[in-house]
Amino acid sequence: MKLIIEKNEDSVAQVAADIIKKEILNNKKMNICFATGNSPLKTYNNLIKMYENKEISFKNITSFNLDEYVGISKENPCSYHYFMHQNLFNKIDINPKNINLPNGNGDIKKNGQEYEKLIVQKGGIDLMILGIGVNGHIAFNEPGSKLESRTREIELTESTIEANKIYFKNKDEVPKTAISMGLATILEAKKIILIATGQSKSQAIFNTIHGEITEKNPASFLNKHNDVTLIIDEKAAKLLKN
Ligand code: F6R
Repeated sequence: MKLIIEKNEDSVAQVAADIIKKEILNNKKMNICFATGNSPLKTYNNLIKMYENKEISFKNITSFNLDEYVGISKENPCSYHYFMHQNLFNKIDINPKNINLPNGNGDIKKNGQEYEKLIVQKGGIDLMILGIGVNGHIAFNEPGSKLESRTREIELTESTIEANKIYFKNKDEVPKTAISMGLATILEAKKIILIATGQSKSQAIFNTIHGEITEKNPASFLNKHNDVTLIIDEKAAKLLKN
């Protein structure tokens, strides 16, 4: 696992965007899997600027997303579908036909299986962008998720609901389950970058780097992949040993 420690959120976002830019320039038709949430937001802003400056194009990029809440419509401003369009897709030249998110409505089991098939059909994920939960989740693979897990419905833990309530009017509105790529799906990506900033992530980052590989900390399974880069700020690095 490669570790990059940057001074603050802005420099983390610059480094992450530079890596993504380099990958896109190397393979203009690549399949990228995006995360939602606060961690990648500034990186997405940098990608938008790079697109506006004509440094990169997303015209031939196919996108996937890690996860989506179950039971809320795409039009709901709290949905990840809405988040991605608002914060990235509407501001770049990606072809709407090439945008794929897991479907959190209808038959979730079937949606999960179809999503897995689609990823394979499109040739797999070249670049995976991850955040990390305070409890070590990646995508919505909460503690206890199996290494061999695939896209499926997952019950959100209390700490995830607590962390995500800021996006909703109140805590009761946070969906109790989500559809999420599994750990096996994530680990099949060719290249993975994980963005983490702020002190609240420092324990999860410590556990991922220095802790054991265990279902209790889903991010620890990233140690099994041969091309993972953690890009974190000094606050998230606070507990790390030298
Ligand atoms: C979101 C996702 C989650 C977040 C994590 C961190 O698509 O997969 O694992 O990356 O919950 O969220 P933020 O970045 O909001 O702290």
